[in-house]
Amino acid sequence: MSGHGTPIPMTSHPCGPLAGVAEVPGDKSISHRSLILGALAVGETVITGLLEGEDVLDTAKAMRAFGAEVTREDDGTWHVHGVGVGGFAEPDQVIDCGNSGTGVRLIMGAMATSPITATFTGDASLNGRPMARVTDPLALFGTQSVGRNGGRLPMTIVGAADPVPVRYAVPVPSAQVKSAVLLAGLNAPGETVVIEKEATRDHTERMLAGFGAQVSVEDSDEGRVITLTGQPELRPQTIAVPRDPSSAAFPVCAALIVPGSDVLVPGIGLNPTRAGLYATLREMGADLTYENEREEGGEPVADLRARYSPDMQGIEVPPERAASMIDEYPVLSVVAANANGKTMMRGVKELRVKESDRIDAMAQGLRANGVSVEEGDDWWSVDGMGIGGVPGGGTCESFLDHRIAMSFMVLGMGAKAPVKVDDGGPIATSFPIFEPLMGGLGARVLRANR
Ligand code: S3P
Repeated sequence: MSGHGTPIPMTSHPCGPLAGVAEVPGDKSISHRSLILGALAVGETVITGLLEGEDVLDTAKAMRAFGAEVTREDDGTWHVHGVGVGGFAEPDQVIDCGNSGTGVRLIMGAMATSPITATFTGDASLNGRPMARVTDPLALFGTQSVGRNGGRLPMTIVGAADPVPVRYAVPVPSAQVKSAVLLAGLNAPGETVVIEKEATRDHTERMLAGFGAQVSVEDSDEGRVITLTGQPELRPQTIAVPRDPSSAAFPVCAALIVPGSDVLVPGIGLNPTRAGLYATLREMGADLTYENEREEGGEPVADLRARYSPDMQGIEVPPERAASMIDEYPVLSVVAANANGKTMMRGVKELRVKESDRIDAMAQGLRANGVSVEEGDDWWSVDGMGIGGVPGGGTCESFLDHRIAMSFMVLGMGAKAPVKVDDGGPIATSFPIFEPLMGGLGARVLRANR
């Protein structure tokens, strides 16, 4: 698949123990939201620990295009001078969100109830992803959209000049859809209500409250009911972004499968709506501990310690846990390949509409490396080969998907022979320091087919 510059082939060689401290970058979800909410506040929001990956940098650019002033100091502190709710200017260029579904969907929501028009595009992966899941609820506010067949980017959004508040039950478990509706509700008068059957990551709700909006969350028979009072004046914030549990998953899972490893991953955000992988790994028998548990900036945080775990067992992953680990199934399947017995993952249809069809992408690459995988529309299973049992030696396609590329690099670290990926370029969208960080722990991830 093309669309992300010149492909960067990478090879991950089997390696000795991984050891040391892995300081993974800031949380991607919270980073996007910090920039967008900062742009909608009145005054200066200061952000430390922002993920400086391509996805988030594209959102920073977009916020500038909508009129916010966004600057970075040499020490990595970011400043956002917001324009206030309803204050977005009309961009004079097409907004390119690169690879980022979160970026484009949240920004569409944030501009949907202002009397401006904007056109969005992205790379080949993003332009293939469904946007009707966002434009359908936005239409209820009075927002218009015209995209390609099947509701794909490039797409033009005409913001509602006279938005009405909305009550919307999200039909798929998606924090992006929930967040787009809530951000649109900011500039609608009255109460916007979003109902989700299953809890998805709740950073938007938490951060809206932190910025001074009136938001309430209630559990009811219908699910989680989130009520937002429109047209608040958002107060600028000082935000310390916690490190990303979805990025931490890579050094953690690598440590579990490489003999002799002991890796500490400090300061990881462990919001319960994000921590499903770690519960699953522990159920499989992983030697994974939470140290120094604390709260930072309204989010639970801990230092994770992962040690080599030779006796992990395949399990049936509870489907109700899917939303809290949706981005982690690819790397979980790598651990599953190194466990004993079958790991069954059900209720994961959403994996088919991520940066790639992640079930298909992982199944192809795992099979190419000697692992047996079965799949259906909304489930897949991996037959564990025991620790160190994965033959490796195969080449995998990353399909413009950072998490697919990184998962196969982890597969190679514990396999009998090196694992190759056709293009590791997408890793820069979420984990730009992946190669030096893993290298520092003792991994051998090399560029080109070396
Ligand atoms: C995200 C929500 C999830 C997740 C994505 C980040 C967010 O997507 O996969 O990586 O920050 O809101 P969906 O909303 O499509 O489930």
